[in-house]
Amino acid sequence: MTDPSDLSPTSKSGTQGVGVTIDGPLGPAHAAVIAALHEQCFDDPWAPTAVARLLSMSGSFALIACVERFPAGFLLCQAVAGEAEILTLGVPPRHRRSGLGRALLRRGLALAAAQDARRMVLEVATDNAAARALYTTCGFTTVGQRRRYYNAAGGASTDALILACALVPQSGDG
Ligand SMILES: CC(C)(COP(=O)(O)OP(=O)(O)OC[C@H]1O[C@@H](n2cnc3c(N)ncnc32)[C@H](O)[C@@H]1OP(=O)(O)O)[C@@H](O)C(=O)NCCC(=O)NCCS
Repeated sequence: MTDPSDLSPTSKSGTQGVGVTIDGPLGPAHAAVIAALHEQCFDDPWAPTAVARLLSMSGSFALIACVERFPAGFLLCQAVAGEAEILTLGVPPRHRRSGLGRALLRRGLALAAAQDARRMVLEVATDNAAARALYTTCGFTTVGQRRRYYNAAGGASTDALILACALVPQSGDG
């Protein structure tokens, strides 16, 4: 079970390393910068209006990682009725393998626990070795599978794994 109590879930900006901050929770006002980061990380870009719509939903929030104040990664999450979901997470290629993905994920887990989520879930492509390794090191385990969930180029499709991680409730009532 992940215990995020060593983090500061309510802080607006947490220092992770020299020149690195994790800013949030953030809302629709940050949709444009998040969409720009998303476009650098995924083949199917999300429009700023779509990101803003997601961030307008109940319980949703964003985090942005900055290196020397320059946006260098993001996470979108929604926590509703005791369960949270990572909607998307990305770090542009030039900033990868420096701990930003793990820092974003850990802060997201802490914020979801602070909203009394007891479990975090997400979907990841079976062939996404980097993300699967990240999630495993942060305590996620496989709880399900969706066949041919992601469409790939040339009409191929890829299965998705459903991963979950138990959270320590922060309210102390169970
Ligand atoms: C997955 C992703 C967010 C990881 O971000 P990152 O900032 O590079 O990750 P970190 O530096 O925090 O790495 C944390 C751990 O993840 C694992 N990991 C990250 N990249 C990896 C890679 N290319 N190969 C193997 N393991 C990897 C390692 O266990 C790593 O720990 P270590 O560096 O101590 O060995 C990034 O690769 C990315 O944006 N990918 C494209 C978008 C994506 O797939 N998002 C997830 C959708 S479910």
